[in-house]
This record gives sequence, structure tokens and C-alpha cells, in this order.
Amino acid sequence: MVAATPGVRAWGPSGSENAGPNPPKAAYVVARVGEAVTVISVEEVSKEFRSWRRRVQALAGVSFEVRQGEAFGLLGANGAGKTTLVKILLGLAHPTSGRVTVRGMEPVRARARRRVGYLPEGHRFPGYLSGEAAMRLFGRLAGLDEATIGRRTRELLALVGLSDRGGDRISRYSKGMTQRLGLACALLDEPEVLFLDEPTDGVDPVGRRHIRDVLLDAKAAGTTIFINSHLLSEVERTCDRVAILHQGRLLREAGVDDLTHPSQRFRIRLEERQHAPLELLARFGAVTLDGHIEVAVPDLPTLNHLLDELRSQRLLIAEVTPQRAALEDVFIELVREERGA
Ligand SMILES: Nc1ncnc2c1ncn2[C@@H]1O[C@H](COP(=O)(O)OP(=O)(O)OP(=O)(O)O)[C@@H](O)[C@H]1O
Ligand SMILES: [Mg+2]
Repeated sequence: MVAATPGVRAWGPSGSENAGPNPPKAAYVVARVGEAVTVISVEEVSKEFRSWRRRVQALAGVSFEVRQGEAFGLLGANGAGKTTLVKILLGLAHPTSGRVTVRGMEPVRARARRRVGYLPEGHRFPGYLSGEAAMRLFGRLAGLDEATIGRRTRELLALVGLSDRGGDRISRYSKGMTQRLGLACALLDEPEVLFLDEPTDGVDPVGRRHIRDVLLDAKAAGTTIFINSHLLSEVERTCDRVAILHQGRLLREAGVDDLTHPSQRFRIRLEERQHAPLELLARFGAVTLDGHIEVAVPDLPTLNHLLDELRSQRLLIAEVTPQRAALEDVFIELVREERGA
């Protein structure tokens, strides 16, 4: 648990001089590329773990940047190096080579960790504490005054749906409740940068949606969000950009919209109770699925040719929808290409 790590404030690091609500973010403006402000910079970072038994190359020459107000997702299979990179970004681990900065500062410096929220992977709270007591403890560690801690605790427990359980011992919380309490603690200090390592681990679909809404609100308020996850559909719904890590190397970094750009797959819906002749569909390699026609075409003229043929059969077309590739498909394809390379 982070609280046990000297010099690192758990969940929502803060300096007391920064404890007021919404201090100017401009204090941390360090680099401008056009209008975009770089908040997290990772330059050629490598990390090798060595023991007498083996060497593990957890990261190999990883570079990317995250801009202010962005939600950035680091994707990768188990062991890809995601947690190692977040620990480096928090100053909890040191790169073997390369350099990282958070708001222009090296994270080993305490100043760099002010107003940085962190939800560690598989975190544990002392079970004898109540949710409220845990928030009070982390608020004090973050240097917040008692009035602010009380106000933020009430606000955040309501935000994560734990208002009526705040007085209960954490040992009586479910896994998903513990995870939501962790998120509340990470948000205590109104962080400018929020690092979340597998935030929806063990959370049910309703709770996941809840967490997603909380994160989208934080993003709307200008917080830069860095999420580690292998739950691709979650990342797809929350993040603007993603980087895909595979065995410590960065395979791709792109906007979610660019990665899942509309492919040449289309779904065609006919007027109710109308059916296209199977022979016609077979000529275009189209299939019917859940009452729709699904087709992949090489170009738009081919799609229009199919539509012409359908209409020549006196069929009424109600809807033509381009289909997007799911992030999961893109991820699996990239990893497969990499393994084949
Ligand atoms: N302290 C350590 N000592 C030795 N090896 C380590 C250490 N921490 C991580 N590793 C190794 O580094 C690699 C990357 O681990 P990391 O925890 O960063 O992966 P991850 O992408 O977060 O995986 P997961 O999705 O399972 O959380 C793994 O091979 C892991 O065994
Ligand atoms: Mg991990």
C-alpha cells in the first residue's frame, strides 16, 4: 500500500500550501505544443529487474506524452509493464534508463507529487477502519485541514455511491465497494493528475458505469487521467487516447477514434418484414445477422451497387450504418501481428 511508502502520499498527494480549492493549474504549465500542454512525458524509458535468478525487461524504450485534460489509457496484457510504468511516473520505481516528467518535474521530487491522485492496483485498506476513517487518514496524510476533509468525504462518498456505508468497517465491504472507496480517496485532494491502476477491477457492471461517470466528470473539470487497464471496452468509453504495450514495448499510440475508425463494414436494415434474396447477399459476401444485413465492401461504389440491387428488388432500405472496429479487435490484431513478426 502506498501509505507504507516513505515520502509518497497515498491516493491524493498534496502540499498544504496547495490545499485550497482549485488553485491555478497554470502553476504547472511547463511545455506548450500549440495549445496542448504536456502534463506527462515519458522519454525512452527502459526498466530491467534483475535478480540472481533472472532478468526481466519490463519496459524497453517507451516514449509518449499525455496532454492536460486528456484521459489516456495504457493497455496491455498481464505482465506488459503497465504497473511498472505508473510506479516510475509516481517516483516509486526508477527507470534503468530514460526520463519521465510529470508537470515538468521529475517524480522523485516531493513537489511533483502534490495534487497527484493514485489508485494502486489491488490496494488494501486496514479492515478495522471505517470508510470515513480511512478518508480522514488519507486526507491528513495529504495535508488537508479537518473542515476540507469532512466536506470532501461527504461529497466523495456520495459520488461513489457509499454515503450510507461510510460508517461501516472496511472489512465488511465487498471488493467493488473497496475499489470505489479507493477511488474516493484518490480524488480527495481534487487532483490535477489522476493515476488509476485497473480502476474497475472486481467491480460489477453498474459499479463500472458509476466509476466511468465519476472519471468523465473529473475529466470535464480539467483533471488529466492516466488509466492502466486490460478492460478494453472500459478504456474505449473513457479515454481519448491510448498506448498499447506489449512485453515492455510500445506497439502503438493513437486516439481511440483513430484506432477504431469506421471500417468498410456496414449494417443495412430493411423495412420490417422484408428479406433480401440469399443469392443476392452471397454475391456481395453479405450475411444476415439479427435481422440486419452485414457486409464488408472494398469501397463505396460496391456498397452503392449492393443498395441498387436491393432497391431493384423493390426492397425498402431503412438504415445504412458504418460499423466501427472495437478497440479489442485492434488490440488483438496488433498483438497477433507482433507475435508473427
Ligand atoms: N519488483 C519486481 N521484480 C522483478 N520483476 C518484476 C517486478 N515488478 C514487475 N516485474 C516484472 O515486470 C513485468 C511487468 O510487470 P507489471 O506489473 O508492470 O505488468 P502489468 O502490465 O501491470 O501486468 P498486470 O496486467 O498483470 O497488472 C512482469 O514480467 C513482472 O513479473
Ligand atoms: Mg499491473
